[in-house]
Amino acid sequence: MDDHSLDRVKQVFEQWSLYDLIIHHNYMRHTQLVTCLNEFVKQTEIRRKVIDLGCGDAWMAKHIFQDMVVESYLGVDLSDTALQEAADQLTDWTSAQQFRQGDIAEVLAETPANSANTALASYSLHHFHDDQKLILLDQIHRILEKDGQFLWIDLARIAPQTRDQYVDEMANHIRHDWQALRESQNEQAVQHVLESDFPATEAWMLEHTPQVGLQLDRCLFRDEYFGAWVFAKHDD
Ligand SMILES: C[S@@+](CC[C@H](N)C(=O)[O-])C[C@H]1O[C@@H](n2cnc3c(N)ncnc32)[C@H](O)[C@@H]1O
Repeated sequence: MDDHSLDRVKQVFEQWSLYDLIIHHNYMRHTQLVTCLNEFVKQTEIRRKVIDLGCGDAWMAKHIFQDMVVESYLGVDLSDTALQEAADQLTDWTSAQQFRQGDIAEVLAETPANSANTALASYSLHHFHDDQKLILLDQIHRILEKDGQFLWIDLARIAPQTRDQYVDEMANHIRHDWQALRESQNEQAVQHVLESDFPATEAWMLEHTPQVGLQLDRCLFRDEYFGAWVFAKHDD
């Protein structure tokens, strides 16, 4: 993302109240996502060392890892407002939690190899173009320990749907179905999607993750707009 794109995204998520409403009304399927991801992580006894890329207010992380042992948690986000909400939200993990305000790409590049066993990217990577996503995926593989997991929740296209078709359909969906937003908030959400969202196709995601050493474990959720996949790093 260039500086202009980062500024535009940061501006939207500095006003956390809009996205808070989206979570509250389950417009991006947060309820279903935390249910299936929490079920999945509960199946293992792993003491989680989590890096949360684009953590927002950490609502997702809090609910996915509730009742788990979280040995460490690093939340990364552009938005100071979101990070403040995250710090208020994660009171249970006080000793384990850290936050970094900054660009995911820069923080990942500075993060030591093999330093996390769980990378969560929930609704953040679609702000990057596919060539940039590939660099991020490679970095995610580098920072994960052997057998570490990458939990990827995101907007995802269904081939042969183009980026323009996807964002136009999403814009119509928001205008018609996200009724709890005020008109100005609704239009802000639409503008954000049209300007700043670059979802990959699911086929691209599944083709490029193994190329960087991340093997698909399972798909936990999929509808026409959103999905959640678990990948694992099995090599060293
Ligand atoms: C749609 S919200 C998702 C928040 C949370 N992960 C969730 O699933 O509810 C996207 C978040 O990613 C952050 N974000 C987007 N691009 C980013 C970047 N390049 N670096 C850091 N954070 C970024 C935004 O500030 C925002 O808080």
